Amino acid sequence: MVRKAVLPAAGLGTRFLPVTKAVPKEMLPILDRPCIEYVVVEAIEAGITDIVLVTSRGKSAMEDYFDRSPALEATLEAAGKTALLAEVRRVARLATVVTVRQQEQRGLGHAVLAAASAVGDEPFAVLLGDDIIDAPTPAIGQLARVHAETGSAVVALQEVPRSETKRYGICAGEMEAPNRMRVRAMVEKPAPEDAPSNLSIVGRYILPAEIFDILRRTAPGAGGEIQLTDAIAVLAARGEVCGLLFEGRRFDTGNPLGLLEATLHEALRRPAYAEGARALLKRFA
Ligand code: UTP
Repeated sequence: MVRKAVLPAAGLGTRFLPVTKAVPKEMLPILDRPCIEYVVVEAIEAGITDIVLVTSRGKSAMEDYFDRSPALEATLEAAGKTALLAEVRRVARLATVVTVRQQEQRGLGHAVLAAASAVGDEPFAVLLGDDIIDAPTPAIGQLARVHAETGSAVVALQEVPRSETKRYGICAGEMEAPNRMRVRAMVEKPAPEDAPSNLSIVGRYILPAEIFDILRRTAPGAGGEIQLTDAIAVLAARGEVCGLLFEGRRFDTGNPLGLLEATLHEALRRPAYAEGARALLKRFA
C-alpha cells in the first residue's frame, strides 16, 4: 500500500513570470480551484492519506489554502452563505497536508529529498503540480496498482509524436505488456532519429525509500540541478523500474497556454460551466 505522496512545489515557476513573483504557480486557478488542489484530489482519490507538500520561501499561500480559516468561515456563516461555507470547509478537510521547505531550488531531485524524513522507510508517490491528469481512475492509483503487482518503482508514460522527442525525457526498454515497459534507461531530449522510443515520462511516480540514498549520492546534472530522473536511472539500470502508459489525458499547466487548455477542458467538463464555455469558444472561433 502506498500511503504517502510527495508534491514538489518549490520551483521558481519562471515560465509564469512575472505573476510568479508574488503568486506560486501552483496557486494559479483552473476556474475556481488552484492547480495544486486537482493534484491533491487525485492523490486522495487513489487512497493516499498523507500529503507532503514541498514548498519554499514566498509560497505560504499553499499552506493557508489547505488550512482552516475560522474568520472567513464565521463571516460566511453569519451571512447565511452556506454553500460557500461548505466549499471553504471542504478544502480544509481534503487531506492531512504537512509542508517541508526546500531551502534552495537545487532541482526536483533535491526537492524530493527534502521530504525524506516525512516519508520514512516506505514506498511513496510523487505527483508534480504541473501535470494535471483527467482520468477514469486516478493516474497515481493506476501506477500504485502496477507497483503492488511488480514491486518495481513505476513511472507514468505518455506517447509523444516522434518529431517532438527533443522536448521530453524519453524511456528506453522492452514492452512487457501493451501498456507497460521495463525501463532500462532514460534519455534527455533526444533528436527523433536518436530516440529509443516515443514514450516520455510524465510527473507521476511510485518510488522506493531507497531513492533518498541514491539522491544523496546524485551529483548535479542538467542545468546544475539534482535531477530526479538521474536517480531513477540508477534503479532502471538494475531493471527495477516499470513504465506505465496510463489511461487519461494529461495537461501541462507549467506554462500559460497549457494552463489555458486545462482550464477550457475543465470548463467543458463541469456542468456549471460547460454551456457558458461552449458559447465563449464559439465567439472566438
Ligand atoms: P519545473 O521544471 O517546472 O521548474 O519543475 P519550475 O521552477 O517549477 O518552473 P519553470 O520551469 O521555472 O517555469 C518541475 C516540478 O519540480 C518542482 C516544481 O515546483 C515543479 O513541480 N521543483 C523544481 C521543486 O520543487 N524544486 C526545484 O528546485 C525545482
